Amino acid sequence: MARGSTLPVLLAGMVLASCDGAGTITNPDDIVFPDSAVSYQAHVQPWLTLRCGPCHGSGNAAGGINLTNYSSLLFDRPNLVVPGNPDESLLCQVLEGTLGHPAGQFQFLRSDQMAGIRTWIREGAFNN
Ligand code: HEC
Repeated sequence: MARGSTLPVLLAGMVLASCDGAGTITNPDDIVFPDSAVSYQAHVQPWLTLRCGPCHGSGNAAGGINLTNYSSLLFDRPNLVVPGNPDESLLCQVLEGTLGHPAGQFQFLRSDQMAGIRTWIREGAFNN
């Protein structure tokens, strides 16, 4: 009878155990983007590295697009990030699905986190 409840309880315990606030964030869903004053260092880069880094890292940049450091993000690919203009930024277009992602559409991207990326770009895409 109670079999169905065992797994959710175990999973909840694992999530709590990984949220001790002590170490590096390993789950991108733990990153909370504020409504304004989004930080590149605290929010944007950890999120991109965890979500996109496996295919867009320094040694394995799919399409030559490295999303794991600031200068690559801003300068390697024209219009990937257009400071002040999220609509013109390929990054937002791909995340929000108005431009297709060659390796397939993203699943499990949270709208509040995509909005956070958008806010960071609108605020000037600083290395803040
Ligand atoms: C499973 C691997 C994989 C992951 C994860 C991944 N990508 Fe990609 N991405 C690719 C491949 C492959 C391409 C195409 C490379 C090429 O053009 O040869 C690509 C291309 C792109 C492009 C260029 C699109 C264009 O029109 O030229 C952008 C922008 C991009 N990815 C953003 C992202 C972002 C943002 C994330 C994280 C949310 C991400 N990718 C995660 C594999 C991946």
